Amino acid sequence: MHPYNLDTLNKRFGLADILIFREGPGGLPVVEVFNEQASAVIALQGAHLLQWVPSGEDPVIWLSPEAKFAAGKSVRGGAPVCWPWFGPHEREAGFPAHGFARTVPWEVFETNANADGSTSVGLRLLHSDATRAQWPAASELELYIRIGTTLELDLLTRNTSSTAITIGEALHTYFRVRDIREVSVQGLEDLEYIDKVDGGTRKRQQGPVRFAGELDRIYLDHGSDCLIHDLGLQRRIRIHKRGSHSTVVWNPWIEKAEKMGDLGPDGYLHMLCVESANAAEDVVKIGPGGEHHLWMRYSVEAL
Ligand code: BG6
Repeated sequence: MHPYNLDTLNKRFGLADILIFREGPGGLPVVEVFNEQASAVIALQGAHLLQWVPSGEDPVIWLSPEAKFAAGKSVRGGAPVCWPWFGPHEREAGFPAHGFARTVPWEVFETNANADGSTSVGLRLLHSDATRAQWPAASELELYIRIGTTLELDLLTRNTSSTAITIGEALHTYFRVRDIREVSVQGLEDLEYIDKVDGGTRKRQQGPVRFAGELDRIYLDHGSDCLIHDLGLQRRIRIHKRGSHSTVVWNPWIEKAEKMGDLGPDGYLHMLCVESANAAEDVVKIGPGGEHHLWMRYSVEAL
């Protein structure tokens, strides 16, 4: 059972004609936003953005047609929050990949109709005995989502303990593309990356990233804009970020997608993850009482 009461949420945080809470797929509560600039859907479990469609545009975010929605399970697609580690846990093989933030309940603490026509939603992760067993450090995690002609995501970690903490994190966003074989990613040229498909070998990027097979890379020391150039949809998605030092690029391609079982037929052709992250040696150390923002803005430009 989820811990939400939709009536209470609507009374407290609903915004007439703009923002409502309702039961979403699999019975998971979602917040839906419709304003003049865009629409969006966010599952309260995981503070997981499932959709963002700027007015007059094709959907920007990809959600698998075979995504499974269930309490405690991660959803394939959208923008999962990876925290407080990225990838497998360093020491504990039994801990979930990419941390627990994407599979636990979050609570809404703020909604706002902004003067510029955009809408904001603030969510915070609810710690429990189960999360504390995997992450004993006293800390708070909040995600602010601003839905408008652009989408802004601000993931804030506060260290409320008396010792330093080190976190790995990512907004593991699945972008929708028409055909991955016609897509390139620009902005990563000449960077060093960890090639996870080649046993973690370190390599250097030559030119734009193109896709012709499984690709799973952590680009290091990267803080500038990334552009997803989509010839099929005749658009470019720009990812502008702050407080992120790594960018992860991932497409599982055919065989891995088949093994995963929740990407849908040919799902790999229509998605691409470009994740604003702090991973590998780019993990973030936060001193006692300190905080860290992982902030990004997505915008769409015509080609
Ligand atoms: C990417 C990783 O970020 O996430 C991949 O680099 C991984 O190695 C992928 O396969 C999906 O992870 P998950 O846990 O959502 O299946």
